[in-house]
Amino acid sequence: MRVAVPRETRPGERRVALVPDSVGRLGARGFTLAVERGAGEEAGFADAEYEAAGAQVVVRSELLAGADAVVRVAAPSAEEAAGLAAGTVLVGFLSPLTDAAGVERLAGRGVVAFAMESIPRITRAQSMDALSSQSTVAGYKAVVLAADRLPRLFPLLMTAAGTVAPAKVLVLGAGVAGLQAIATARRLGALVSGFDVRPVVREQVESLGATFLDLGITGAETEGGYAAELTAEEQARQQAALEERIPEFDVIVTTALVPGRPAPKLIPASAVARMRRGSVIVDLAAETGGNCELTSPGEEVEREGVTIVGFTDLAARMPYHASQLYSRNVVALLEHLAPDGELALDFEDEITAGACVARPRVTA
Ligand code: NAI
Repeated sequence: MRVAVPRETRPGERRVALVPDSVGRLGARGFTLAVERGAGEEAGFADAEYEAAGAQVVVRSELLAGADAVVRVAAPSAEEAAGLAAGTVLVGFLSPLTDAAGVERLAGRGVVAFAMESIPRITRAQSMDALSSQSTVAGYKAVVLAADRLPRLFPLLMTAAGTVAPAKVLVLGAGVAGLQAIATARRLGALVSGFDVRPVVREQVESLGATFLDLGITGAETEGGYAAELTAEEQARQQAALEERIPEFDVIVTTALVPGRPAPKLIPASAVARMRRGSVIVDLAAETGGNCELTSPGEEVEREGVTIVGFTDLAARMPYHASQLYSRNVVALLEHLAPDGELALDFEDEITAGACVARPRVTA
């Protein structure tokens, strides 16, 4: 099976779908790899490393010749999708819940598309779970960014010049990204609180040495471990409860998501206005509208004296390790789809069927 790795084209996308280490592993399993020249450059992986690992490094116009599969990070542009031959397997973050037109375009071309977001979150598929691997990187990066933007120190310092009180950090949404944010903020010495609507999370927050913020609001958890959307009344109560507590904090990292729905609004503008000047909000939910009413997706803005970071590409801003982890997820998926180096798609299989978002229609 021949696998092609393009250089990503979406602005700001610095990750690459396969790193040289993975190329070597796939090569040993009977895969043939073609990597577009410069594909790994921005993530810190040179063409020579890919060649040394056994890949053919080729120019774009030669990349797709004979390719059975194309693996990438971001979804292809309309032009890139038009270049995919019928029957090609495509792997990437394809946004199946929010980009129906993009998925339809792939289906129309007869592409067999696997969305990394759609891999079922079951134990057997953990090694393929790119949502988790990239959320881990984003959660870390969010705190590092916040620490950089905050005009205060994170740790408690006792110096000859006096004592510095530790920063107070609140993490809203304690899933994969949120728990990593809590752990990172703790390591930097902040006093950390966490909140999530899923009740099981309390113990996880506390085990990381943070305090669980009790807002008196508990939501339901769906079968996949995700939060169910709160009712309008519950959301209003959550906002009101948070508004009371928010002025205590120097930094708020928000990560609250409900799959396929706009991000829940947790921080109204009135709550931002009550924060101390110089405080920082990093909104990891910016891509789906943001958890803060004043977030501007993709940008860093100052509102009411508060810095609000709404970058939608945090994992891409840490491209070396984000790529390395993503690459391992992609290898695990490829090995699942082609156990002996040859495609053997079994649509009865929960992982294959769950991740597949487009495939040629079978005509009777
Ligand atoms: P996510 O990215 O969809 O959401 C982030 C967090 O926001 C979640 O913890 C969610 O409960 C929370 N949230 C939603 N609405 C909220 C609100 N109004 N206020 C406060 N918080 C709110 O979720 P993520 O991080 O991708 O995964 C969530 C859970 O899924 C994990 O903690 C785990 O239980 C499960 N999971 C299971 C895996 C497996 O292989 N079994 C792998 C990864 C995750």
